[in-house]
Amino acid sequence: MCGIVGYIGHRTALPLLLNGLKRLEYRGYDSAGIALPHGEGLYIVKHAGTVAQLESMLNGLDLPATVGIGHTRWATHGEPIDRNAHPHTDASGRLAIVHNGIIENYATLKAKLQEDGYAFRSDTDTEVLAVFIGALYEQYGDIELAVRTALSEVQGTFGLVVLSADHPDILIAARRGSPIVIGVGNGEYIVASDATAIVEYTRSVFYLTDDELAILTRSGCQTKTIDDIPTSAELLELEFDLERIEKGGYPHFMLKEIHEQPETFRDACRGRLLAHEGNIKLGGLRSVEQTLRRANRLILTGCGTSWHAALVGEYWIEELARLPVEVEYASEFRYRNPVLSPDDVVVAISQSGETADTLAAVREAQMRGATVLGIVNVVGSSIARETHAGVYIHAGPEIGVASTKAFTSQLAILMLLALYLGRMRHLSATQAQEIAAEMLRLPDKIQTILSRGDFIQDIARSYAHATNFLYLGRGVNFPIALEGALKMKEISYIHAEGYPAAEMKHGPIALIDENMPAVVIAPRDELYEKVLANIEEIRARRGKVIAIADENDPDIAAVANHVIPIPRTLPLLTPVLTVIPLQLLAYYTAIERGCNVDMPRNLAKSVTVE
Ligand code: AGP
Ligand code: GLU
Repeated sequence: MCGIVGYIGHRTALPLLLNGLKRLEYRGYDSAGIALPHGEGLYIVKHAGTVAQLESMLNGLDLPATVGIGHTRWATHGEPIDRNAHPHTDASGRLAIVHNGIIENYATLKAKLQEDGYAFRSDTDTEVLAVFIGALYEQYGDIELAVRTALSEVQGTFGLVVLSADHPDILIAARRGSPIVIGVGNGEYIVASDATAIVEYTRSVFYLTDDELAILTRSGCQTKTIDDIPTSAELLELEFDLERIEKGGYPHFMLKEIHEQPETFRDACRGRLLAHEGNIKLGGLRSVEQTLRRANRLILTGCGTSWHAALVGEYWIEELARLPVEVEYASEFRYRNPVLSPDDVVVAISQSGETADTLAAVREAQMRGATVLGIVNVVGSSIARETHAGVYIHAGPEIGVASTKAFTSQLAILMLLALYLGRMRHLSATQAQEIAAEMLRLPDKIQTILSRGDFIQDIARSYAHATNFLYLGRGVNFPIALEGALKMKEISYIHAEGYPAAEMKHGPIALIDENMPAVVIAPRDELYEKVLANIEEIRARRGKVIAIADENDPDIAAVANHVIPIPRTLPLLTPVLTVIPLQLLAYYTAIERGCNVDMPRNLAKSVTVE
């Protein structure tokens, strides 16, 4: 998920690797490291910290190698500490790898390797792969065969580069699910996880496809599948400027992150959603399984967008597990005198894992004897460390201050949790299977909505001058109304409020006139007719209605001014889809108003102060 650089050629590799790592810094990372052949072996320097610190650790060292690998890590398995940083080596220390992605079957592989007498120094999945490749190399004496065999046995995602002290004239790069691009120079190759690290050296590149491998030497390059079938790489000319590539071709990180959601939602479910059996596997909760079986009540807590995810989670868990759930702002929880019993489980939700109020709530709950779990994106963050157990959302670094992909990944985990708790209680396998199968279809449905960006931009243009927005939703989509309003406020500075649709006539209806746009979330669920009536009430007062509704819904089209269609899904799962157009609406409105969407005024990405 983070940065890879590799070099083989005629120049001294080290400055080039460090420069490449600096170019990749924009992606966010927690550790950095490099490996180069030196003397008879490998010289490896790595640490939890910045590339600048890594550079100063290397200052004054004479490392003339013309081949090497480097990495910026964004931890998924094991805290961001020195020994978990990449490169990782095999048992001999003569083979090193840098890896982006997740090896899903690392635990099984690790157990087997341990039985065979191999020891491990880190908590990472990557080291398991390094040791596995090394073990196969010991057996076959053929580095390429060892890499291919290992990769055909691992499950999960990887972009990786292998360096071996026995073969300092070869670099092997491979990919499955995590990008690898190779820059082709004159007698030299630069491998990287994205073109930013390459573009200042060469514009001639090729991309590896899934399950493809490149064997790079100074005199040429060979590509093949991991099953040893030769492939032919198609050379491309890079055309964009650096800044644009950093954002994956998008003008802003926020838009890039909105567009990553099909993938990040899938990643959150990967290896955890056993759709055929209707079961859920959450490795991070194994140690608290008995506590969860006994739990009387769940208290979900967080701030901002994470608190909105908690509100959706409340509906889901109560519905599927029939377990009472309370949701509380972390900032309130910490200062109340909460009544907690030992059979209560507190779940802290936080993208950053560093939000001061949420962390304080975690500590307060622990002091009162509750079991505390975390749903966190940043591995090894304070909340991840201080909770008893938890589940990572694995959304990759979120750079835009307005949270988008972390929200849908939090929803993915909350649904998995609801199914997991449900299966421990009353939920039948058939019911769980139906929801699980639909979860797997959601990434494609999110993609369909994303492809309607232009249409949403047109709507945003028509209302960008508004001074107020009302967001209405019912049931499980009420929290989405809150989230839509928060996104609008944060980045466009338009005052926006979210309400349960039925509350409108208890007050907010007084605000409605021809200048007030109302965004109404109206999928066809059991409350559909009621929401339709709310739309009529707005229209009767000449308010403008932007409806988020099921595709081809003629009734909504007849009453709303604009309809943003979303693909049909199970009523319970609609929040995952209805939030997407609201993120885009806020984004395009802010653009229209000339706002800095990635760094909105007065806001910080992570609120580490009270
Ligand atoms: C979301 O767009 C906001 N920037 C903010 O509300 C955020 O969700 C909140 O500060 C909580 O952050 P966390 O998830 O990192 O704990
Ligand atoms: N899963 C690996 C780790 O936790 C790779 C992380 C990354 O992609 O940076 O070390």
